[in-house]
Amino acid sequence: MQSTLDLGFFATDVSLEGKSAIVTGSSRGIGRAIAIELARQGTDVLINYNRNREAADEVQREIEGLGRKAAVVGADVSDLGQHQKLIDAALKAFGKIDILINNAGITRVADVLQESEADYDVVMNTNLKAPHFLTQRVANYMIAQNIRGCIIYTLSISDTLASDNRAAYCISKAGLEMDMKVYAGRLAEVGIKVNGVEVGVTDTDLARVRIPDYEEAAKKGYIFMFRTGTPQDVAHAVIAAMKIYDTGALIPASGGIMTRVLNLRMMTELEINQSKKDRAN
Ligand SMILES: NC(=O)c1ccc[n+]([C@@H]2O[C@H](COP(=O)([O-])OP(=O)(O)OC[C@H]3O[C@@H](n4cnc5c(N)ncnc54)[C@H](OP(=O)(O)O)[C@@H]3O)[C@@H](O)[C@H]2O)c1
Repeated sequence: MQSTLDLGFFATDVSLEGKSAIVTGSSRGIGRAIAIELARQGTDVLINYNRNREAADEVQREIEGLGRKAAVVGADVSDLGQHQKLIDAALKAFGKIDILINNAGITRVADVLQESEADYDVVMNTNLKAPHFLTQRVANYMIAQNIRGCIIYTLSISDTLASDNRAAYCISKAGLEMDMKVYAGRLAEVGIKVNGVEVGVTDTDLARVRIPDYEEAAKKGYIFMFRTGTPQDVAHAVIAAMKIYDTGALIPASGGIMTRVLNLRMMTELEINQSKKDRAN
């Protein structure tokens, strides 16, 4: 028997047509691509920036060109006092909020033995504390309005893989993965879906300095997709995360970096592999 209950994002056929979303940090990079992909799928989007108003305005024009509504709000998400501004602006522009994408994030590079308290605090406040409390605020709004919405987190391979020159970043993303699961558990009973996308090295301002290393790793076969990721790759994973039959789950967008293999074949200098090669010749 077919249920008449509106399952929202828990339904089999999730449509993004006519929905409205807040995407934090959507003036550039991954957030920008997510905002535009959501608009392509029929969603109105609140674009959030911290410093780059012009870039945010450009995203707005692009979304409006796709026939969807867009609004722009400057808000530093690390300042919890600015969160209500995002909600108010989305309600004013679209009348409701169905989707929150916790995307804004920053990194600081320093040897863990030298990392300053100021760098640690700004990364943790932006990447971990901000999405925790913004999710709390948006979830309470959705519950009050009986909206069976969806909340997606831009997570990272750094939630699992440690980098000793980006300690605060890795710690923030590890914590954020748990944040996603905690909210998924709490919000399942009210029909709000919460998932994350585990992003690998993606060609944006944030990661550009590491791209040459990754291109080399891709050539050597360590990144299975032969290339670094693009913001569009992540946007596609976000759409998948909104549509899957699951909550509290991670969708990978890392080019195979997180695929568990013991890739000894690559270690051609190993004696055992050399001798196999000799036998083959
Ligand atoms: N690129 C990667 O390789 C990679 C890998 C794994 C995970 N990620 C995650 O993906 C997310 C997006 O990263 P990205 O690579 O797209 O970075 P990006 O190119 O540096 O863009 C960052 C975006 O976040 C905004 N932002 C930064 N601080 C903010 C704040 N305090 N309040 C509001 N907005 C803020 C920026 O706004 P302005 O333009 O105004 O500065 C910009 O729109 C981050 O959470 C990052 O950790 C990225």
